[in-house]
Amino acid sequence: MKATAQAHPNIALAKYWGKAPGPANAPAVPSLSVTLAGLTTVTSVELDRSLPADRLTINGRDEDATRVTSLLDRVRREAGETTRARIVTTNDFPTSAGLASSASGFAALAVAARAALGLPFDPTRASDLARRTSASSARSLFGGFVELDAGDGTDRDLPAREVAPAEHLDLRVVVAVTTEAPKDESSTSGMNTTSAHSPYYAAWLEHAPRLYEEVRRALLARDLDALGAAAEASALAMHASAIAAGVVYFRGATVDALAEVRRIRASGTSAYATIDAGPHVKTLVRAADAQAVAARLAAVPGVLRVLVAAPGPGASLVADR
Ligand code: DP6
Repeated sequence: MKATAQAHPNIALAKYWGKAPGPANAPAVPSLSVTLAGLTTVTSVELDRSLPADRLTINGRDEDATRVTSLLDRVRREAGETTRARIVTTNDFPTSAGLASSASGFAALAVAARAALGLPFDPTRASDLARRTSASSARSLFGGFVELDAGDGTDRDLPAREVAPAEHLDLRVVVAVTTEAPKDESSTSGMNTTSAHSPYYAAWLEHAPRLYEEVRRALLARDLDALGAAAEASALAMHASAIAAGVVYFRGATVDALAEVRRIRASGTSAYATIDAGPHVKTLVRAADAQAVAARLAAVPGVLRVLVAAPGPGASLVADR
């Protein structure tokens, strides 16, 4: 009746931006990400017959449970249960760190919810479940390098899967945090505005699968330079399509940090930027270069702090204390 799970955020190297037609929250384009170690969300789900509705607390604060309930309702249907649940989630990293706590959060929730309702541990089933609420979270079920296909307009299962384990590539992600404020516009809203209003959305839909293929090929070949170049191109193409619809996640420090990444690269160190639906810049580097690149980015005016993350494991159940 109670289960606890943990999961880690992921960063897309080939971006998901835009939804396939249909009700199932399937992506319009394939994506490929790396799951990060060291940053952890822990979520427990406890069924409680006295509750009239699901209750969610995140880091000790009561939060709106609408999306959590939509995920739990699917699990309750599968398990033949109606009991409401108390959901307690904690992140050991600040939600403003520029790393999507929603990805680790829904991944951990999917695993904990299935276990609390007596369903077996099954990362693929949990990935499809999480994807229906927030597509990027489907990738956090798995460790290392993970891909998620585009949807085909049907309601079929669409889980993510591992492409290569964490040890496959000697990669580090240097996160340059440019604000402590919560983000201006959610990715769901930003991508929906982009698809409705951007004159470049069609170009993004056409281009993104090619960049995903380049990222995938470079990853399998352990070619960090080709992977980084395709990842940076994917992020910039995604933002170009969004900006053309008036969806601007960049701040001044975002542009300055991006310029610094390009200067680092021009000086001979492999460093490639990626940016999600927020103003922070994440830089892909070799492990041996991570500290030097972190120091360079920390010195950029407007960069508040940096953190360095390595590829890490997928979601798992943890013993209840
Ligand atoms: C820029 O997964 O948050 O991080 O499915 O609407 O919840 P919903 O969107 P979400 O979008 C993530 C967008 C991104 C790119 C990525 O992670 O692939």
